[in-house]
Amino acid sequence: MEKTIAIIKGDGIGPEIVTEAMGVLDTVAAKFGHRFTYVDAPMGGNAVDAFGVPLPEESLANCLDADSVLLGAVGGPKWDDQPADKRPERGLLKLRGAMGLYTNVRPARMFPDLSASCPLRPDIAAKGIDLVVVRELIGGVYFGEHSTAEVDGEQKATDIMAYSEHEIRRVAHVAFQMAQKRRKRVTSIDKANVLDTSRLWRKTVTEVAKEYPDVELLHMYVDNAAMQIVRDPSQFDVIVTENLFGDILSDEASQITGSIGMIPSSSMGEGTRGLYEPIHGSAPDIAGQNKANPIGTILAAAMMLQYSFDMAAEADAIERAVDETLKAGIRCGDIWQEGCTLVGCREMGAEIRSRI
Ligand code: IPM
Ligand code: MG
Repeated sequence: MEKTIAIIKGDGIGPEIVTEAMGVLDTVAAKFGHRFTYVDAPMGGNAVDAFGVPLPEESLANCLDADSVLLGAVGGPKWDDQPADKRPERGLLKLRGAMGLYTNVRPARMFPDLSASCPLRPDIAAKGIDLVVVRELIGGVYFGEHSTAEVDGEQKATDIMAYSEHEIRRVAHVAFQMAQKRRKRVTSIDKANVLDTSRLWRKTVTEVAKEYPDVELLHMYVDNAAMQIVRDPSQFDVIVTENLFGDILSDEASQITGSIGMIPSSSMGEGTRGLYEPIHGSAPDIAGQNKANPIGTILAAAMMLQYSFDMAAEADAIERAVDETLKAGIRCGDIWQEGCTLVGCREMGAEIRSRI
């Protein structure tokens, strides 16, 4: 097969980790007889510096034309004081909106070989962690109106949180269908005791659930969910939630698996084209030092093969190579433990490639 992949290296450690993931994709292509063509799509702080905007039109066009998009990470302290429309994050939000990526899937699975890195009590970790956060990605307060104005002699800021039924319904379907292939439990997370958007969320998800009688539906308030995720993560299979709650809970869920550096994510809309990225940020403090863990990005590339290109065997080859590398005791700094071999970003990429 021939596929075109738009590449957004991004800021901070982005270029290093994406380079390793591209190397892994090339190894897979050679082994399975595919051809991947890469098209650069600058986005983030580097694009602000070079083009004056976080998502240049040409980058957006390259992403829309590609079969899929691979992203490292964007942002960094250098651009923190930029006006809102020149912040690196704005590029990512614009891209999600323009590509219609309403479903963000963030699996949080504990690798057995990394259980020592799990920050939870051993008896809690022993029950295992294997959950998926399905986050609504182009609605809610992220995409509502934002404004700051002078009111009664002081600044007043407003962010509007809005949801329509169809925005809730389409992501709920994805969550139920995913649960059907897993342990058949959906936990819908909201703040229905306070927010109207949450009451509509709960009502709509409950309606959608009727089409999936084989899946159990539970509702949970977001504050309780934040607590339950560290108290007993084994109770969760598929979590479905709105944009902001999903942003927060997916960081929490990933970190309890041992390292946020290991977790990939996919963002999809209608059709097969998606945006794949690690869930961690651009880690400017270690950028350019060959210290970053590329596994999150490499596993994101595997997700791309599976979900966008229907290449299950190829995706499996990457996941197995990652598992074997960890079993061999090869670790980047974020997941290093006594008795293991500490390697850098490039060496980790090479170790994984050698096992494909
Ligand atoms: C994420 C990030 C983004 C978000 C930022 C960079 C805008 O935190 O993908 O979770 O809040 O969605
Ligand atoms: Mg986030």
